[in-house]
Amino acid sequence: MQSLFDQSVPELLDELAGRNRECTACPLAETRTNVVFGDGNPESPLVFVGEGPGAQEDATGVPFVGRAGKLLDECLAENGMTRKHVYICNIVKCRACIVDGPSVQNRAPRPVEIASCAPWLEQQLALIRPLVIVCLGGPSASTLIHSGFRMLQERGKWFNTCRFAPHAMAALHPAYVLRQAGQSFAEARGHLVNDIGAARLKVIEARKAPRPTLF
Ligand code: URA
Ligand code: SF4
Repeated sequence: MQSLFDQSVPELLDELAGRNRECTACPLAETRTNVVFGDGNPESPLVFVGEGPGAQEDATGVPFVGRAGKLLDECLAENGMTRKHVYICNIVKCRACIVDGPSVQNRAPRPVEIASCAPWLEQQLALIRPLVIVCLGGPSASTLIHSGFRMLQERGKWFNTCRFAPHAMAALHPAYVLRQAGQSFAEARGHLVNDIGAARLKVIEARKAPRPTLF
């Protein structure tokens, strides 16, 4: 029999995902279809953390599969990567929405929901121990890098203030990029592609350096 102490990271993450599926720690449990735990390679040194599931993610249980996800996949591809090379998750695991009769609309997760869900994200990141975390959007950056993160001034900069990786940065959320038009869209998309490219290079650089014992 396999020793309890020999479980691999993917096995431990599966176990965590199984417990996450049963979570009722906040009211988002009442309106969700699926808990959206994470996707990609659990042994990747590069992790992307978004905000929370939308309609398509709620329906499938997989993060970033809607329009924003397609754009994220494109930006990964432009840097020679697919989601098999990286791991993708969110700060909140269940969809935040406003249900008004037959109409269901996404909304931003509330601070209390982000706080309720933090133990899941924290255990997930502590198991993966990435070298580099890319926060997608302000709420993720404020949770993982520093509170009051100002995306337009601070995106693309490297921080060593994240407890879960020696290097962290924030990039524009792909859904924000999709809301831009014309020149502004091209510019925002360009930032996202470049920031993902910089994250890939940071992994290569960090692999050469000895890892600080704290991480
Ligand atoms: N937006 C997010 O922040 N996360 C997803 O999984 C999908 C869209
Ligand atoms: Fe649990 Fe997080 Fe879902 Fe709330 S959002 S029910 S804390 S998994």
